[in-house]
Amino acid sequence: MGQVERTFHLAREAKQGRLKPWPRAGGTAGLLFFEPSTRTQKSFEVATVRAGLFPVSFNAGAGTSMEKGESVEDSIRNLAAMGHELLIIRAGEGVDMGALANQLPQPVLNAGWGKRGHPTQALLDLFTLQERRELEGARIVFVGDILHSRVVQSHLEVLRVLKVPYAFCGPHAFLPQDDVKRFARLRDAVEWGNVLMFLRYQNERHSSQQNKGSVVTDPQSPFREFFLHDEDLAMLPATTAIMHPGPVNIGQELSQGAYHDPRSMILDQVTHGVWLRQALIHQVLEVSQ
Ligand code: NCD
Repeated sequence: MGQVERTFHLAREAKQGRLKPWPRAGGTAGLLFFEPSTRTQKSFEVATVRAGLFPVSFNAGAGTSMEKGESVEDSIRNLAAMGHELLIIRAGEGVDMGALANQLPQPVLNAGWGKRGHPTQALLDLFTLQERRELEGARIVFVGDILHSRVVQSHLEVLRVLKVPYAFCGPHAFLPQDDVKRFARLRDAVEWGNVLMFLRYQNERHSSQQNKGSVVTDPQSPFREFFLHDEDLAMLPATTAIMHPGPVNIGQELSQGAYHDPRSMILDQVTHGVWLRQALIHQVLEVSQ
């Protein structure tokens, strides 16, 4: 069994309540977040509790010693010195996470690293698909702001291993310069792909010039061709999955109707994310089954 399949197997065990928890009382996990998060942080907290550990969350910003000038690296070193069983870290790409993780006494899970990657999100997206309808036969189209998405970076790594075909669909200025199959219109992408993975327009990572705002309020928006309207839902095949790692900007990527359509797996992704993260915690802590 490959590494990804093994993680999915453990996530399925977690789903069925069959994963053994951490065996010693008083174990803690440090969740160190230096960028905003809702789903990732809270689902890691739930996964930590289910894995038998107590989550200790740190969110950078007001009220922390970072206000007094403490650096991200020093904050991580100090929080790591408290003896957690593992650390779950989200930080900007200015931090050399690889080098830092090697100096820390406990295992580290990457909860999102600048624009560079978000491996647990890619794994949970694919685990959701696998559970809902098999990865076999999936053709995934990433739609929207592919250039700035760390989720896509991690997806590409996993999809190459699993040999799942993928394509890009988005405004030219928001696509990376490589030879991945691409579509200039959503309606063409829908004919090729059976999974539409919408991506948030990463407004905070754009220059103001690029960020043209919502398709609803700005008729000149470059995102117009890539927005899934309520009216588009009728032409979408019954077997096409609508996915999004969240947070969704209703009005920029999807309509409210698309979000709540029966083909949407957006909230399923969140549910499966907890099981997948439980599996990863189990693996890095090497809890025997
Ligand atoms: C993503 C992230 O933070 O990278 N969201 C998430 O973790 N669920 C995607 C995003 O910010 O758009």
